[in-house]
Amino acid sequence: MKKETVLSGIRPTGFVHLGNYFGAMRNWVRMQDEYDCYYCIVDWHSLTTHPDTRELQNNVLRLLSELLASGLDPERCVLYVQSDVPEIAELYLYLNMLSYKGELEKTVTFKDKVRQQPDNVNAGLLTYPVLQAADILVHRALKVPVGKDQEQHIEMTRNFAERFNHRYGEVFPMPKAFSYGSELIKIMSLDGTGKMSKSENQMATLYLADDDELITQKIKKAKSDTLPVEPNSKKTDAVENLFGLMRLVSTQDVVEKFEADFNNCSIRYGDMKAQLGEDMVKFIRPLRDQAKALRADDKYLKEVMEMGAEKARKSAKATMKLVRNAIGLKYF
Ligand code: TYM
Repeated sequence: MKKETVLSGIRPTGFVHLGNYFGAMRNWVRMQDEYDCYYCIVDWHSLTTHPDTRELQNNVLRLLSELLASGLDPERCVLYVQSDVPEIAELYLYLNMLSYKGELEKTVTFKDKVRQQPDNVNAGLLTYPVLQAADILVHRALKVPVGKDQEQHIEMTRNFAERFNHRYGEVFPMPKAFSYGSELIKIMSLDGTGKMSKSENQMATLYLADDDELITQKIKKAKSDTLPVEPNSKKTDAVENLFGLMRLVSTQDVVEKFEADFNNCSIRYGDMKAQLGEDMVKFIRPLRDQAKALRADDKYLKEVMEMGAEKARKSAKATMKLVRNAIGLKYF
């Protein structure tokens, strides 16, 4: 039986952080065995914020190393760079005719970017979700493993797909955001101000490239709280965040010990952070070291990209044939 198709993407801007890892990449790795997986480094998307493109090559290679170090296997998934698959740009063009200014302007990520870069509100930024939809639909993917922040984009993808099918005939299945477990994940930043992100407040974000000392230091500085005064109190967001991270990287007995300390009001946040720091170092260190080793092998990384591009194009071309036929773009 044919396996279901999965697609997800990540921008080559900044360093990979724990939000990326636990929100998306951890699922990507697990899905390789059960699905037909396509994972894309979305370099075109990153151009919407006008990065220095002299750094693009290095950023893409570093991200690829980090993805491989996290457990993606180029033999078991298709790992490629967006700009190597021009079919995505063609589909983006068709989908642009089916997306409306009003809905694009209402997208949360667009409104955030308008606030962050008021001098660069370009059309690529406005149509960012359309390009993302093209990434997904070009492989007719059904499942899209992403963090909570991407939920709206996947919903928009379904709208564009539905409009296409309605206007031109059934080509696309309806993709859904996916995470193992019931909920999409959102990792909060260590200072308790919103989600962990690639560019904002680097001391409140844990990167896979951070060295041991920096990890320990960041966790030491993380926001906690005053001691609970009543047994079994509700945790504040900052404290819940520390426990959330602990559940991801520490053993169950460690988590249970600190839960019990919290519930009987004897918790010492200093001790908790020291333990979390130690466990986080143990978790990040092998990923970081492996990524570093892989980054030194340009030849291998380029081979991986080339192999991925070839497989991704094959799948994209098959879809574009259906798309062109459905629209009626066939003259000879
Ligand atoms: P990007 O590059 O910002 O993030 C990559 C993945 O990491 C997840 N993520 C988080 N998850 C939990 N908590 C956080 N704090 C956190 N921060 C980031 C994101 O949800 C994402 O899954 N638009 C996308 C890239 C993209 C894409 C696609 C994704 C382009 N085309 C097609 C899926 C399908 C983005 O900017 O991700």
